[in-house]
Amino acid sequence: MTEPYVIVGIGELVTNDPDRGGTAGVLADAAVAVDGDTISWVGPAGDLTQPWSEVRRVDLGGRAMLPGFVDAHTHLVFAGDRSDEFTRRMAGESYREIAAAGGGILATVAATRRADVDELVGSARRRLQRMLATGTTTIEVKSGYGLDTTTEVEMLVAAAAAAATLPMTLRRTFLGAHSVPPEFRSRRHDYVDLLVEEMLPAAAPHADYCDVFVEDGVFDVDEARRIFAAAAEHGLGARVHAEQLTHRGGAALAADIGAASADHLDHATADDADRMAEAGTAAVLVPGASFQLRSPQAPGPMLWDRGVTVALATDCNPGTSYVESMPFVVALGVVQMGLTAEQAVWAATRGGALSLGLGDRGWVTPGARADLVALDAPSYRHLAYRPASDLVAGVISGGEMAAGHALPSDADEETE
Ligand code: NIG
Ligand code: FE
Repeated sequence: MTEPYVIVGIGELVTNDPDRGGTAGVLADAAVAVDGDTISWVGPAGDLTQPWSEVRRVDLGGRAMLPGFVDAHTHLVFAGDRSDEFTRRMAGESYREIAAAGGGILATVAATRRADVDELVGSARRRLQRMLATGTTTIEVKSGYGLDTTTEVEMLVAAAAAAATLPMTLRRTFLGAHSVPPEFRSRRHDYVDLLVEEMLPAAAPHADYCDVFVEDGVFDVDEARRIFAAAAEHGLGARVHAEQLTHRGGAALAADIGAASADHLDHATADDADRMAEAGTAAVLVPGASFQLRSPQAPGPMLWDRGVTVALATDCNPGTSYVESMPFVVALGVVQMGLTAEQAVWAATRGGALSLGLGDRGWVTPGARADLVALDAPSYRHLAYRPASDLVAGVISGGEMAAGHALPSDADEETE
């Protein structure tokens, strides 16, 4: 394990510590001390005292630093791609029309069922590596492209195998209720029975959460309630695909059952927000999906203002949002959704962590996990201001250099 070190010359540090004021607790000219995998001291560089004034220094030269991104909603394990559908959508067909014609989720289900596990692990691992390089240190991954017991379990196992050798924290979600598979189309009730009686018990040892796509033509609130009740018996928390394409009551259900999160929420109302705030159900918003579907963004500012814990995530999937970059999601959160840059950066770090029950990360405070991102920019604002630039200069995960070129191993050779 690395010797203790202190990062100095941080032009702007996003701490997300409420005690430091503002939305994101931004500190100028800051220092952060790291001991093992933990942050041990945070403050203005001028206040550094023993023993931190004595240990090895890494000088950021005025760069900004923030907590590692927490991507709390992805469908990362899948085979094939749907660039053909993307082309059709850009020419005017809708996501739902394509799905009704046998494309959409079911196209990826067919490809994923055909794929062997090594292929699933390999492609997921390459996506994870690109995500790590853009600053993601904690990620949630859903199943949902198997829709049979064997392939669903395989997807969850593949997610763990893909992440196993990377310095990232993984949380897994069973999404067997992503769609009704073709072989059950004329007997959907039997599929819900199968989910509850066979798939959930088999998947539960490999998952932390259960998710249901509550949507017109997919699963309704009553079916979702039954699935979540069974999931709770197997010790799984709840996350809900809610109010994405239409308003179907998924957000109110999420609040009612005390779900960890309701996600997407493009059609959420003020009443949904109030219920979620009251229940402590986080809103995981995925602006990449609305961007790629050319549909209006979720009402992030409304949810925030009504007291909901807001998280931003990529929703990385081959259909609606083949987006891997959290910096790009932050830019969409600001430019298209209307969050402030501080809110968006908080939501992409602390908001995601809270939605996953991971209180030890997403902020920079003594005792927190040392997951940190250094930017090749003087301010976190540049994430939104300069979208699609590669601004991530270095990534630290659990105190160790995980990706990038500036921290901490070669920062001494800084050339700028
Ligand atoms: O989050 N909404 C449902 N699931 C995905 C889309 C999955 C797909 O099209 O493959 C989403 O947008
Ligand atoms: Fe999703």
